[in-house]
Amino acid sequence: MTQASSTRSIPATGQIPRHVAIIMDGNGRWATQRMLPRTAGHVRGVQAVRRAVEACGRRGVEYLTLFAFSSENWRRPAQEVSLLMKLFVRTLEKEVDKLIAQGVRLRIVGDLAPFDRKLRDLIRDAEARTADQSSLVLTIAANYGGRWDILQATRALLADRPDLADHPEQLDEDALSARLAMAYAPEPDLFIRTGGEQRISNFLIWQLAYTELYFTPCYWPDFGAADIDQAFAWYRDRERRFGRTSEQLRTQT
Ligand code: IPE
Ligand code: IPE
Ligand code: MG
Repeated sequence: MTQASSTRSIPATGQIPRHVAIIMDGNGRWATQRMLPRTAGHVRGVQAVRRAVEACGRRGVEYLTLFAFSSENWRRPAQEVSLLMKLFVRTLEKEVDKLIAQGVRLRIVGDLAPFDRKLRDLIRDAEARTADQSSLVLTIAANYGGRWDILQATRALLADRPDLADHPEQLDEDALSARLAMAYAPEPDLFIRTGGEQRISNFLIWQLAYTELYFTPCYWPDFGAADIDQAFAWYRDRERRFGRTSEQLRTQT
């Protein structure tokens, strides 16, 4: 099913965001501040992931998307990249049963080709085992980049519809967005970035077109349910106009 596009129609919005997308940033600085190796921050970050999944599930969020590893994170020291991969494997091995108990469906998006075989098998297995769960869809973006996503969607579209090359005027938004890695989810309502930076870092660049952007200085390992509540309270006060005027919003029923 193709999800409604915020630029083609005005989405329904509520008090609680349906889809929350988070850049989990600040693990390294959290550790450095405590004279620990950066990798200790990543290990602690896993606990914050558990808290976020639970808090979002309880508050009725339908989709939670977490940026775990960007297509540019390969530029980091080899030792840090390798720890992150090990942590990913260990977490998948340990957490799947808990996710099932919580009704969470797990999906991984990103270019999985560079990951080793074991990790790819674990990912496929975890996705299959949680496929029947429906309280919350948890998406982990791993080796994900917004530009990679737009390019892979464009390639897939041209492969399916070679006629478009001769009729570019027939190319529309829906054709492309249906092939994005997260075509199964509505566009995020709320974006959260921890760690104090105010940038998108090549996350869901297409889908964030009308998302509310929330930035907090809190480092990811310290982020918990109370911080989620603060972000949601901020979200409730936003006026989501999608191009319209405040006046129009007030007079609509
Ligand atoms: C986010 O924390 C985790 C990943 C990118 C994998 P960082 O590791 O970027 O932490 P800082 O930003 O250096 O503090
Ligand atoms: C973004 O964080 C990616 C993830 C959290 C996975 P980075 O720490 O890589 O972003 P930059 O480099 O500060 O923009
Ligand atoms: Mg960072």
